[in-house]
Amino acid sequence: MSELDVSAFVAKHTYGTWRPQKGWKPLHVTRAEGCHFYDASGKRYLDMSAQLMCSNLGHQNAAVVDAICKQAKELCFVAPGFATTVRAQLAQKLIEVVPKGIEKFFFATSGTEANECAVKMARLMTGKRKVLARYNSYHGSTAASVALTGDYRRWFAESTGNAVDDVIHVPECNPYRPSPFHSALETIDYIEYVLKNEANVAAMIVEPVVGTNGVLVPPDEYLPKLHALLKKHGVLLIADEVMAGWGRTGAWFSVDHWNVKPDILVTAKGVTSAMAPLGVVGTTREIANFFEDGWFAHGHTYESHSLTLAPAIAAIGEYKRLGLIDRAKDLGTRFGEKLKALAERHPSVGDVRGLGMFWAIELVKNRQTKEPFNTFHDKFARKPMLVDQVSAKLMEQGVYAVGWMSHFVLAPPLIITEAELDECIAAFDKALAIADAAVVA
Ligand SMILES: Cc1ncc(COP(=O)(O)O)c(C=O)c1O
Repeated sequence: MSELDVSAFVAKHTYGTWRPQKGWKPLHVTRAEGCHFYDASGKRYLDMSAQLMCSNLGHQNAAVVDAICKQAKELCFVAPGFATTVRAQLAQKLIEVVPKGIEKFFFATSGTEANECAVKMARLMTGKRKVLARYNSYHGSTAASVALTGDYRRWFAESTGNAVDDVIHVPECNPYRPSPFHSALETIDYIEYVLKNEANVAAMIVEPVVGTNGVLVPPDEYLPKLHALLKKHGVLLIADEVMAGWGRTGAWFSVDHWNVKPDILVTAKGVTSAMAPLGVVGTTREIANFFEDGWFAHGHTYESHSLTLAPAIAAIGEYKRLGLIDRAKDLGTRFGEKLKALAERHPSVGDVRGLGMFWAIELVKNRQTKEPFNTFHDKFARKPMLVDQVSAKLMEQGVYAVGWMSHFVLAPPLIITEAELDECIAAFDKALAIADAAVVA
């Protein structure tokens, strides 16, 4: 099949996600290595978003590839009712790196499924149905997880009835764009008000550092204060670290920055550096104890699949061997400085924010009014998005970065070099001319 055929065949016979199918022309990618991937013509792209903020070790990490091959030869699959060596080993490795107190795990095959499981567990354990979640958030694409999702992707599922209800959305903590009624920290007062006026709340789910929806880093007081409030009301804290985990923020998990110990920790993506589909639900012993007598009413054929567990063991080994957690912290500080200098050269950049190797460049029509170029409503209404034009200019220069509504999410593999970061900045310097030209004085 020619290059053109593959792209056209994929578009015609497989579904492109989160979009109308018409007009989808997927780039045919043939290989990837380290911080780069290549299209069929051989053109090289610097991967500034680690694909979907997930290939944290870079592409084709040799130790992870070897672990997959070795496991494939040894034992691909047995039913989840059996014990396997990799299942025990991964649980042991996870206990070494997850927040203290998280010690019993369920292994799913995506972040979505892991969140479905986490919420079901919270509901089973507390006997309560309602869950609090925040507006600028994403938690997954199926029934409960899309209902928890705060961003516009939930709206489609609502229209089909495919979003399980009993979720109460509250404002996120956004220091750059606080709600008209509350400062970033006062959103906790709002949550307290909700909790005083509601009953039957099982849990609250948060992305401790919001990912796709803007890399929102809360002030230091936020998460400890929120956790204390939830504890006071007997509400479980579910930390969704699907994107923010695995060194992304310069810590194993982003909750570590504030020493917060969630009741349930959910993760995926970087756990295998996305080289195999694994989602993880980690719970405290208290929750585990509940399920000693209570039914753990959950499961899938592919749960604890050996081909997903072996690469995770190898990936954890690689994060340690390469010292990537500390590297993300150190290099991330320098990356942040480079991005802030970039912002000074471009009037369309309203804000640059981040932690570790997790950054957002937010584009605005006007720095004073902070009006974004596009919103969820524009996307929902299929309007052209300015970030797509900037993305196209980046791709032309061989740089890939996830653009979202009116910002870019920069989350490269943690092995990236400083020279590659400079390459990214140079590409943005050119591409942002498009946004600068659209600034309204
Ligand atoms: C914070 C967060 N939670 C959950 C998910 C869903 O994970 P998956 O796409 O693996 O189902 C994502 C995916 O981007 C995410 O960023």
